[in-house]
Amino acid sequence: MGEPEPSRLVEEILALGEVFRGEVAPLKDEQELRAAQARFLGKKGSLSELMKRMGSLPPAERPRVGEAANRVKQLIEEEVARKLLRISALRRKRDLERLVDVTLPGRTTPNGHLHILTQVRRELCAIFAELGFEVATGPQVETDFHNFEALAMPADHPARDMQDTFYVGDGAGTLLRTHTSPVQIRTMLTRKPPLAIIAPGVVYRRDDDPTHSPMFTQLEGLCVDKGIRMSDLKGVLLHFVQRFFGPGLGLRFRASYFPFVEPGAEVDMRCSFCHGARSDCRLCKGSGWLEIGGAGMVDPRVFEQVGIDATAVSGFAFGMGLERMAMLRHGIHDIKLAYEGDLRFARQF
Ligand code: DAH
Repeated sequence: MGEPEPSRLVEEILALGEVFRGEVAPLKDEQELRAAQARFLGKKGSLSELMKRMGSLPPAERPRVGEAANRVKQLIEEEVARKLLRISALRRKRDLERLVDVTLPGRTTPNGHLHILTQVRRELCAIFAELGFEVATGPQVETDFHNFEALAMPADHPARDMQDTFYVGDGAGTLLRTHTSPVQIRTMLTRKPPLAIIAPGVVYRRDDDPTHSPMFTQLEGLCVDKGIRMSDLKGVLLHFVQRFFGPGLGLRFRASYFPFVEPGAEVDMRCSFCHGARSDCRLCKGSGWLEIGGAGMVDPRVFEQVGIDATAVSGFAFGMGLERMAMLRHGIHDIKLAYEGDLRFARQF
């Protein structure tokens, strides 16, 4: 082979323009067009390949080849610009022609809502607020004194066994509170009667089954004033039951023992599902009653611990489980559902 012929090289270069136009004619997409452009003008593209041959031409011939290369480059770039215009016009036309179904439902961002336990807590606070109760709070990490001792449960009291808990630090004086009753103590240590408070809050116990969780929520109530009687307690709880579970539901007190009240009672309400009419009722198991909490008249020993004169005032107290209130009201069978965060559960309330 002899020297490359300058005019052949120029022809080949100029021919690239036509080849390019032919190749991109059917393309309808910017990306493909850019890829074709790179195949022709890129560093390893067809034009560069041809230009490599320029090196073996006599210097006098090179300018012609260079000129041809510039021309074809310009040609290809113009073709790309033209094609791009056509592609975007086509796209706009297609957009305009697309059928839009204006009756389709819009895309919504789902709104969250309050958890069932938050809803129940707020509702209970509102119901007791109607009767003049204030909301009080206390720490979840408590002292033995507030949680047990001042509530008439000294160190070796057997009632402590029912509230086995989690001890913090060296295990002696500090623990996760087992009930909200210590808020009674904290309130009476800092304020004097007349008092009417409720204390919602998280409590902890060594318990774990479908109706008991090691962490759960209670609502405590305390009312202290001159001449407070058990009938006041009953009236307040009756108001609560009828507001929260439905009008007409009755209450009964069963004598029971809690060290910090005397007399003490377990409180049942009429079964909100069968009203005591069905021996096969699944909610009340045919008993006609549902237990809702403990209550009683504040024991004089408790008043003594907090420096209140038990001959001058009297008081009642009650405590109930918030989860139990939610479960009874909505027929929830497993307390764990309230903590799992499963949206299929959360969305039902
Ligand atoms: N603190 C008790 C418990 O968790 C519940 C209770 C019973 C609270 C009687 C009271 C009460 O205020 O008077 O088992």
